[in-house]
Amino acid sequence: MTHSLTNKIAVVTGASRGIGRATALKLAKEGAEVFVHYSVSKESAEAVVAEIAKTGNKAKAIHADLSKVAGAVKLAEQIPGNIDILVNNAGVAEFVGLAETTEEQFDKQFNVNVKGLFFVTQKLAPKINDNGRIINLSSVVATRSFEGIPSYSATKGAVETLTIQLAGEFGKRGITVNAVAPGIIATDMAAPIVDNHGDSVSKAIQAIPRLGQPEDVADAIAALAGEGGRWITGQSIAVSGGTKI
Ligand SMILES: NC(=O)c1ccc[n+]([C@@H]2O[C@H](COP(=O)([O-])OP(=O)(O)OC[C@H]3O[C@@H](n4cnc5c(N)ncnc54)[C@H](OP(=O)(O)O)[C@@H]3O)[C@@H](O)[C@H]2O)c1
Repeated sequence: MTHSLTNKIAVVTGASRGIGRATALKLAKEGAEVFVHYSVSKESAEAVVAEIAKTGNKAKAIHADLSKVAGAVKLAEQIPGNIDILVNNAGVAEFVGLAETTEEQFDKQFNVNVKGLFFVTQKLAPKINDNGRIINLSSVVATRSFEGIPSYSATKGAVETLTIQLAGEFGKRGITVNAVAPGIIATDMAAPIVDNHGDSVSKAIQAIPRLGQPEDVADAIAALAGEGGRWITGQSIAVSGGTKI
């Protein structure tokens, strides 16, 4: 049976957990071979690979700390041939207001969310086939005011700017570059919100009043990665159940 991503090769950063895990599983379900990247969660990444293998598809776990340029180099070295899809998903968040934010928290977020994404894209650029796809994980907080996460939000603002700039650069090769901007999604990252408020925040701020799931975002990423995404580039698409604020 032919699926939408048969014969495609994908790299998903931060695929051990949360949205990245769901994305790796979805891309594999659509027929892609997937490199399942992780930073510290080796067992979780290997479990994702095993889950994909059960369906008869190919996957491999690869390790790299993307907070350093050396990590991006290491990631690229573990990918032997060319790829078609790069999902820059790895990220960290500090739920801390302006007054309390430390230099360490600020740097940690910019190092993974911005520097990591930038240099992974730089190191993998020569390996991305013409007409390929780059999909970056932004957030609705890049463009809307939420209290208590100014430094994280700024990293996602940078991701959106990079998405626009890189779309111009990669467009010559037919490679699309887009961002997806999730709202609140039930993962480890959002646990401080979900554990404190359940789904009441989602219900209050979204047109569709339920808590977003990793699969809601993974399906949107897979749609952009498929043939139907070929003429969409330089965009940020909110995948949020319709954030109203
Ligand atoms: N959840 C939400 O509500 C939400 C909303 C909007 C945007 N997002 C964005 O969506 C993306 C995925 O978020 P998530 O909620 O799925 O997060 P998550 O469950 O916390 O998973 C984060 C992933 O990033 C990886 N990672 C963390 N530090 C890393 C480092 N130094 N080097 C390489 N990889 C690293 C982790 O690898 P290990 O498991 O090995 O640590 C993990 O796979 C992020 O970019 C996030 O900002 C999330």
